[in-house]
Amino acid sequence: MAADVLLLGCGRLGSAILEGWLLTGSLAPDRMLIATPSSKPAAEAARACGARVTASPDGIAGMSAVVLAVKPGLWRQALAPWLPALAPDAVVLSVMAGVAGADIAAAVAARPVARLMPTTAVAQGQGVAALWSDGPAAEAAARTLFGALADLVPLADETLFHAATAVSGCAPAFIHALVEALAEAGTAEGLEPDAAERLARGALRSAAAGAATGASLAELIDRVASPGGATRAGLDALRHGGLDLLATATVAAAMRRSRELG
Ligand SMILES: NC(=O)c1ccc[n+]([C@@H]2O[C@H](COP(=O)([O-])OP(=O)(O)OC[C@H]3O[C@@H](n4cnc5c(N)ncnc54)[C@H](OP(=O)(O)O)[C@@H]3O)[C@@H](O)[C@H]2O)c1
Repeated sequence: MAADVLLLGCGRLGSAILEGWLLTGSLAPDRMLIATPSSKPAAEAARACGARVTASPDGIAGMSAVVLAVKPGLWRQALAPWLPALAPDAVVLSVMAGVAGADIAAAVAARPVARLMPTTAVAQGQGVAALWSDGPAAEAAARTLFGALADLVPLADETLFHAATAVSGCAPAFIHALVEALAEAGTAEGLEPDAAERLARGALRSAAAGAATGASLAELIDRVASPGGATRAGLDALRHGGLDLLATATVAAAMRRSRELG
């Protein structure tokens, strides 16, 4: 890919992607074209490094790729003015939840399409993203633009995006809710609220550091939960209390809403 990459939308996820590109150097700023109706700090930081930021396609042509990072209900109207500026073989990468690849392909004259469902940790080059593409050109572009930002997990079937969304895109919020509940339980047992939250957040950082080693989840659990110990007792309570059922219901509810939004 030699020409410019259009980032359409610079909200929470679009800004995170932009920050990831700037941090990792995986896309040169002078190849970035950022379309945003209102000023955004990440776009201004990119502009200061040489990126172009604009709300209008006037005078722009020959883009080799576009990243669709607007809300799912807005993509058709947001993309329409830019279509004439897209190269005939430009690749369209969507990070939008619930918009089918075939609908996007139909709107962009059957150009190659890939869908990704990244977490906002792409800003730190630490994200994870489910990836589906309709062919090798789109997959290669997705790997070029997102490979340094996220662990890309290919999906064999596009319909699996709803499950992937629940298990990764939504899941940081689920995990923070569990950490919050642990802190509240610690407060109920007498810890000061600040201390309980610091301790629980520290536990989250420790768990993340363990996960980053690549060890299996079973091994990570075993490292902390020795037989007959306090962690094992807590784990038993978590499992007997219905952790698996709760996780199943949580994923099912998120999938249901993801389908509705699509
Ligand atoms: N946030 C996440 O963690 C996450 C994770 C996975 C996937 N996603 C997907 O990412 C997409 C964006 O989500 P978000 O959370 O980043 O939403 P968001 O913060 O609302 O960002 C959407 C951005 O689109 C911009 N926009 C609206 N109309 C536009 C147009 N015509 N041209 C260019 N930009 C336009 C808005 O600009 P203004 O602010 O100027 O109105 C806004 O900043 C969604 O489709 C969502 O499904 C998000």
